[in-house]
Amino acid sequence: MPHLSYQYVFEAGPDPVAPPLLLLHGTGGTEHDLLRLGHSLSPGSALLSPRGDVSEGGALRFFARLAEGVFDPAEVTRRTHALADFILAATKQHELDPSKLIAVGFSNGANIAATLLQLRPETLGAGILLRSMVVLNQPAAAGSLLGRRALLLNGTVDPIVPPDHPPHLAELLRAGGAEVKVQLLQASHGLTPQDVTAAKAWLQT
Ligand code: MLT
Repeated sequence: MPHLSYQYVFEAGPDPVAPPLLLLHGTGGTEHDLLRLGHSLSPGSALLSPRGDVSEGGALRFFARLAEGVFDPAEVTRRTHALADFILAATKQHELDPSKLIAVGFSNGANIAATLLQLRPETLGAGILLRSMVVLNQPAAAGSLLGRRALLLNGTVDPIVPPDHPPHLAELLRAGGAEVKVQLLQASHGLTPQDVTAAKAWLQT
């Protein structure tokens, strides 16, 4: 089963109407990193959490980069399709509806959540992108994200994400018809309690 080749954790949710969450960790993380965040954001949800399959000197990621903030579009595209195929196979296996799946991604995980929305909109219903940036400067195809939503939570003093990236990424997603909210927090690249509060509030809307 090549499409289930990612290592992953799956937790069945106790609440069948709660939307399933796809948890995507940051560089150097594992499939266990965001489980607590997932429980806190939506306690009843099923959690699907793959482990990045690219190693950068031992630090796991979802795609390789040429340097910090420098990306190869062919590599990003290839890895995005691989993760998308995994998502379709894993949601089928665990009887989840991908159109209800909400990606919760941090840093590198947020970046691949964005490229999933840009390139493979059928794999997600929504995304909470924590500290994302533009890695693929390509608008989503017109109409491909109609009915889908994204929340971009970024920090005002983040040394990794240039300040023009969140609004630019929002435009790339809006080009596909997504409803996108960009929210800036007094924060650096790391997550803060405000991220949890803001993400929970957005999930209620
Ligand atoms: C990336 O490479 O995806 C971004 O620079 C975020 C990171 O992993 O630090």
